[in-house]
Amino acid sequence: MELEPAVTSAPPTAAPTAEAPAQAPAKLEPPGAPGSRLRRLYEWADERLGLTELRKFAAKKTVPEHRHAFWYYWGGISLFLFIVQVLTGVLLLVYFRPGPEAYDSVRRITYEIHFGWLVRSAHSWSANLMVFAVFVHMFSAGLMKAYRKPREFTWWSGVVLLLLTLGFGFSGYLLTWDEVAYFGTKVGIEVAEKTPVLGRPYANLLRGGPDVNENTLQRFFALHVVIFPLLFMPVLVLHLWLVSKHGNAVPPSEEAKPAARRKSVPFFPNFMMKDLAMWLIALNVIAIFASFFPWQLGSQADPLKPAPVGIHPEWYFMSSFQVLKIFGDWFPGAAGEMFGMAVFTLGLGLWFLLPLFDPSSKNGRRARLATYFILFALAVLVVTTVWGYLAL
Ligand code: HEM
Repeated sequence: MELEPAVTSAPPTAAPTAEAPAQAPAKLEPPGAPGSRLRRLYEWADERLGLTELRKFAAKKTVPEHRHAFWYYWGGISLFLFIVQVLTGVLLLVYFRPGPEAYDSVRRITYEIHFGWLVRSAHSWSANLMVFAVFVHMFSAGLMKAYRKPREFTWWSGVVLLLLTLGFGFSGYLLTWDEVAYFGTKVGIEVAEKTPVLGRPYANLLRGGPDVNENTLQRFFALHVVIFPLLFMPVLVLHLWLVSKHGNAVPPSEEAKPAARRKSVPFFPNFMMKDLAMWLIALNVIAIFASFFPWQLGSQADPLKPAPVGIHPEWYFMSSFQVLKIFGDWFPGAAGEMFGMAVFTLGLGLWFLLPLFDPSSKNGRRARLATYFILFALAVLVVTTVWGYLAL
């Protein structure tokens, strides 16, 4: 059945702002000719489900259009990749067994179960792509100054989503229990342990003792499939509700234009179709990576063996790993790494507080400082990641 929203053909309207409210949407006609089967079916469903209300809401929602609008797709791409994670994760759960059989169950999924390799490969590639998409989305939202009033809670809920996304990656990595996963996690937790005050008790809680062993695997499993999803879902709902409530922010260069010169397109169906096209591209990227570069499984972890040379965490933790190494070289002993973790914690705190530091839409000194801070964080992230790989 086709819906024919009357706004589809409407020319782009000015972005809704305090000075220039959104144009009233044209009257919504029900689909089909009067008396036709389609019209009657629609009216039957409308009476019970309130479809016209939904269409009115969708028709009112607009998305600004300007030369930076490309960055609006990245939140949606992150969302799509999260959905892929849930679907492939549930399929993996059918055969995955936590505990002493973890490695064997992953080996079966990879080599014996029909298409098991593909589902596992898609889950792993999509996890990495999701982290990448979330980073792109966060930095672009930051540079568009989308954290400013009234979007402070959108930013704060986003920071929580970022931390949970990284948590998903970290906890999922260990579950295969192969050599690289085991030693990578061991190193990762040892790094977090250096955080002043809370590091040691937190690391012991995570490991279930002083060493990474089966207790750790069980805890990571609980985090990965129960606790993190339970935390992620309500924060995601809040994030999306806030986006829908406040609409998309426009970057300062657009805001400076007179309201009459700003353009926007209806969300439904115009922007949603483009969003879906992006999702299709993302699905193709996953399919290409997952089938041409299937995710590998190393040999089973042996905690008694020495760590293989060049062991390192996942690429998205490489930056923190390298920064700690640098601090460790500058200030030998535990002091260097502790100092490094303190700097990290401070950096994250400042990142969280950004909306309070730069709340106004006037482009003054604070706005410039906030932009420099975001660019500096991006540069540190990229340079230390590359440096980390070169130094292996
Ligand atoms: C799994 C993680 C995330 C998902 C699924 C997600 C999803 C979305 C979606 C669908 C949108 C609307 C489309 C858009 O503007 O891109 C959005 C907007 C937004 N997100 Fe996220 N997001 C995530 C993480 C983050 C992070 C880490 C931050 C920043 C710390 C953040 C900050 C924002 C802001 C400020 C907006 C409003 C943008 C605007 O008004 O233009 N999000 N998010």
